[in-house]
Amino acid sequence: MNLSHEAQERNERLEAEAPQVFNALSPLARRAYFPKGIPYQANQAAACAINATIGQITDGCGNPLPLARLGELLSGLSTQDAFLYSPIQGRPKVRQLWHEKLVREDARMESIGLPAVTAGICHAISMGAELFFSPGDTLLLPDLYWDNYEQIFGIRLEGHIERYPFYTADLSGFNVDGLRQTLGKAIGKVHVLLDFPSNPSGYSPTHDEMKAIADVLVEAAAARTVVVYCDDAYHGLVFETSVTSKSLFFELIGRHSNLIPLKCDGVTKELSFFGGRVGFLTFGTSEGVSEILVDKSKSLIRSGIGSPVGISQYLVEEELLDPRHDESFEAMRQILERRYRILKNALSSPNGQWTVHPFNAGCFCLLELRNGLSAEDIRQRLITEESVGVVNHGDRYLRLAFCSLKEEAIEPLVEALKRVCAKSV
Ligand SMILES: Cc1ncc(COP(=O)(O)O)c(C=O)c1O
Repeated sequence: MNLSHEAQERNERLEAEAPQVFNALSPLARRAYFPKGIPYQANQAAACAINATIGQITDGCGNPLPLARLGELLSGLSTQDAFLYSPIQGRPKVRQLWHEKLVREDARMESIGLPAVTAGICHAISMGAELFFSPGDTLLLPDLYWDNYEQIFGIRLEGHIERYPFYTADLSGFNVDGLRQTLGKAIGKVHVLLDFPSNPSGYSPTHDEMKAIADVLVEAAAARTVVVYCDDAYHGLVFETSVTSKSLFFELIGRHSNLIPLKCDGVTKELSFFGGRVGFLTFGTSEGVSEILVDKSKSLIRSGIGSPVGISQYLVEEELLDPRHDESFEAMRQILERRYRILKNALSSPNGQWTVHPFNAGCFCLLELRNGLSAEDIRQRLITEESVGVVNHGDRYLRLAFCSLKEEAIEPLVEALKRVCAKSV
């Protein structure tokens, strides 16, 4: 392995402060460090009267020179915020504001360092994995999961995926025992990814289930390194009081030195800013360790996407600072809750064509089709015969995204589904 002395310096500091975290690093993460190159030197010279460091086209006084149409379109924004580069780890203000938001959600966040800004949540997961996941490592996933995890951990990072049933056999809730048993069988360092509220199931654990999941992960860490990726993409979109709206990440902070929790979240769904591409990767370690991991993240960001999108971070800062923010989020949550209740009601009468899996949060619900029906076949027929689009999950399940449906479209969708299933043998 070609280790520069700069990387070695970071590794030695990390090994001294948290040997378990150092030992868990992937070969790539061991090599990674943020060099004293152009962004570093430009930052050091930022306050200089004459600054000839960075390849950013300006008027010579630090202001951009926007072209005409872009300047017109963005005339309501400060040109510096709209047009200039973001620091590699993200703008200080958005990192601080996001951290403050998480502290408001749970005081345990006070001991945790600032996140690295990523280009969306997928990038946060992928970067967290690049830091800790080595080829051949094993990731534990429930059997109902976002298909992109296969791309990240299987295809990109050449890992193995071990699955356990998402729900208990009686469909009463999340299968904590399944997670415990699968963890018990895994040998050596192991990675666990959990996304709550879940895509595709639309399920978020109850308060007790969340505590039990955390305890299982802590138990497993007694014998080995456990890296936990908390994908909080759908954070806050919860529709029942029995369900926790808090992240699993908070339950894992400071629980065991072998347990490395990573929080992957962002504005995509939570701030309904899908094209903004602002995500956050927070390390559930001491602040000193987090600083080294952010330094290594900067290496991966700079070598991958260059730097995160500056203008979107500025817009997110403005949204988070707006006094209407909480109210505005709540209004969006309530729109989804109304659709959720209509869908629950439309699916409430027993139906021989499918089983509705428990859902209580997020954007989706999952139907398991009766034996003899193919989800792919039903999906195709829904498009051609009923002009209805849904997504199949394997050949047994259909996922309905109620987040993108008008209230009036929900019952017709369920009726169309019944018709197509009834016609199919
Ligand atoms: C569970 C889950 N995680 C992450 C993401 C990705 O978020 P982003 O678009 O910010 O990369 C999605 C998007 O659908 C998702 O469903």
